[in-house]
Formats: sequence, C-alpha cells, structure tokens
Amino acid sequence: MPSSQFAHKEKYRYQNGFNSYHESEAVEGALPIGANSPQKPPYGLYAEKLSGTAFTAPRHENQQTWLYRVLPSCGHSNFEPRESSTYNTNPENKPYEKIHHIPNQLRWDPFDLDETVDWVHSLHLVAGAGDPTMKQGLGMYIYAAGKSMDAKEAFYSADGDFLIVPQHGVLDIRTELGRLLVRPNEIAVIPRGIKYRVDLPDGPVRGYILELYQGHFQLPELGPIGSNCLANARDFQAPIADFDEDTETEWHVLCKFAGHLFSARQGHTPFDVVAWHGLYYPYKYDLARFNTMGSVSFDHPDPSIYTVLTAQSDHPGTAVADFVIFPPRWLVAEDTFRPPWYHRNTMSEFMGLIQGQYDAKTGGGFQPAGASLHNVMAGHGPDASTHEKASNAELQPRKVGEGSMAFMFESCLMVGVTDWGLKKCKKVQEGYNAESWEPLKPHFKRPTPAKIDNGVDGKDGVIGDKAQVPHWTS
Ligand SMILES: [Fe+2]
Repeated sequence: MPSSQFAHKEKYRYQNGFNSYHESEAVEGALPIGANSPQKPPYGLYAEKLSGTAFTAPRHENQQTWLYRVLPSCGHSNFEPRESSTYNTNPENKPYEKIHHIPNQLRWDPFDLDETVDWVHSLHLVAGAGDPTMKQGLGMYIYAAGKSMDAKEAFYSADGDFLIVPQHGVLDIRTELGRLLVRPNEIAVIPRGIKYRVDLPDGPVRGYILELYQGHFQLPELGPIGSNCLANARDFQAPIADFDEDTETEWHVLCKFAGHLFSARQGHTPFDVVAWHGLYYPYKYDLARFNTMGSVSFDHPDPSIYTVLTAQSDHPGTAVADFVIFPPRWLVAEDTFRPPWYHRNTMSEFMGLIQGQYDAKTGGGFQPAGASLHNVMAGHGPDASTHEKASNAELQPRKVGEGSMAFMFESCLMVGVTDWGLKKCKKVQEGYNAESWEPLKPHFKRPTPAKIDNGVDGKDGVIGDKAQVPHWTS
C-alpha cells in the first residue's frame, strides 16, 4: 500500500490538496460569506490577512490567507533579543558571515540527540547560501530536541519557509491554522511567518530542515510524464482550524529574524484562529505516497526524476532548492551500471538518511541521522565497494531501498558550511574521501594490438587536418 505504516497513529483530520484553495471553520458560520473583511465579522472575530507573496504577485503564484481570530496578532510587547548558546541559526552572529566555502566532499556521522533543549533551541544551521534579509538562498539545519516547547510559547521564522524532515521521533505541531502530526517518513512545510509550537509526544526528536529564504515550494513540472506521478497534489495534507480562547495568560512569541532569536510577550494565545481560508498554509506529506519513476530499458535518468518539491530561481528549470528522495524502487535496467554514475554537478547536493541504507553508499559511512555535502563541481559517486558490487551484479529485476529513505536538498547555489557544521558538532568524517573513493582501482586494460590516436602526433595525418573525429549516426 502506498502509505507508511506508522507506529504512532494519526490523530488529526486534514484537508487534502497541494496549492489548493482551502477553507476551514471550527465554528459553523465563522467564515464570512463572500466578503473577506466585513464591518463586523461573524461572532465578533477579528479579520487578519496573512500574505505569503506580494499582493500583486501573478495569480498562479499568489499566496494569501484570511484568518478570523479572537484577537489580531499585532498586540504584544516589543520583541527583545533572546540569544542563546544552544540556538545556532546564527552561530557566527550573522548567518552569512564566517561561512566556510570549501570544495571538499563532506560527510557527517549521525548527529547527536539532545534531550536538554526544545524545538527552538535545537536548531543548528549546518550549511547554507544567500541571505534571509535579501530573501535569497536557503539554510540547511539539523534539529535535535528532547523537550516540548513551553506550554505558553509559540515560534515563527520571518526568514523563510521551513521544510521539516523528521529522522527520529514524532512532532506534534500546533500551528495557527491547525494541527499537524509529523513522523519519520513524513515531511512538513511551515511557511514564513506562521506561528507554531512543537510538542514531543514520543520523546526525543531529530531531523533535518531546509529553510527557503525565497519564494515557496511547488510541485515540479511533469513534462512528458503527464498529469500524474511523482508527488501527487491530492496527497498533501493541510490542517483543520482549531482554536483556544485565552485572553488571560501570558504567552511568549519567539521569532527568528535575520537569523537572530527574539521574544515578545502577549496576554492572549496566538492559537485563536477560529476559521481561515486561503492558499498560504502549512502542510504535510507522507513520502511513501511518492509515485517513483525510473528507466524500464537501460541507463537511469537524472535524479531530478525523484523531486518531491522544488523552489525555482529566477531562471526556470534551475532550482534554488529541490527536495529529492530516493525511495524503495525496482531497478530493471539492462546492461546498466545501476547505482548513480560518477558525476560533478553545477548544483550542490546536501544529503541525509532517514532510515535504512542508501543504495549508492553501502560502505557503512552514510548512516541514518548523518549527512553529506557534495558542493558545486565536487566529484562524487558510489563508493568503491558499491562500484565493485554493481559492476559485477547479475542484472535481474531487483528492488532497492527497501526500508530505506535517503533524501537530498539540492541547490543551484554554492553552499557554505557554518563553524558549527564544520567544527563544533564534531561529526565531520575526516576520512570520507579516502575511505570512499581512494580505494577505487583502475580497470582499464589497453587492447592489444592497440590502435592509439591521441590526435596530436600527426601519425595518421597532418596536425590540424583531423579537426573532426568521424562519427556515425547509424
Ligand atoms: Fe550527486
């Protein structure tokens, strides 16, 4: 069945559809009919608009939501800096400073769980590019928390959309727009500005986050594939309106703003949205529902065939961020080296592993909760043992990745690594290259007799006359 079997059972209802215009009311009649901002909204609620794109963004990318709530968001004390040694989204003061740009392949051992911190204080910026103040680029984070957020706390990022990839533990996320239960093998996206709090019903959690500073995630174009497959729109789940009435107690709203943490007090709950309608909302998706495509003849397509969500740069087809997965799938290609080929890409590739073993890295160094980064033009590919096995494997139809889920944050941007990612986390594998690729043996055997023509010695003609090596198309 194309859905995950979760140990922690679902407890919320959702509305289905990606980029669908949704509406939800927890009290019947709370949504005004027709008008967005009547003189007196139903039941004495306040109308509040939440915009995720410029008002005048083209209709196909315009994302706005109307909220009908007990009190509007604006009533709170001034935000004050609330820096913390365990909050590492700006470990070097500004997220775009002291970032190390290095051409080496990098790989990390599994990141540690940390039971002493909550969601907000567990965010570690590992790598990124660009600048949230310019709304350009992306950040890649590891989170590892062991405590629920305080009961009267909420958090939002003004810097970008969070794409959350749990690796361990369950996230019970209460957002202004409703609740999401997010488990390993599911992802969640919480757009910029939406307030939420995270409870941990099953204890410690760990995972990865891609924060998108520009635009929003979209489903990839399908081209000749047609109108279905890969991630289907109907499998994305948005929350149902859910509200509290609390205008008596003190709440703290935490805010990530240009990488820094701020806090403000307010005398009312931020989770008081009785009804909402719009296109700007959080959602989740079960990765097991991904309808994987692949070659049924020979070779294998580019890994873009595994793209779940994409965020395009200003140049169509070139992504600031692609979220790509490597799900369980059948390999049937004939006379083909079936793992990924060796390659150097203009894109950068940050990979993580949720569970199991990634079929391109069977040497044991790429483990669940670990990560790797193959930056712009860094050569990489299967490790030596995988190459050896795949070169000699009997090419029967074979299912790979059973029980496994690897993923990739891919970007057209050159990715820098923070001090935390490179040093403080103490997880970088010093011997990554040496263990993976230095053991690769040459298999080249010069044919005998060998007809060698390097095109420079003029043996078969005059230098310069052989401008074109003959080639045939039939
Ligand atoms: Fe790659």
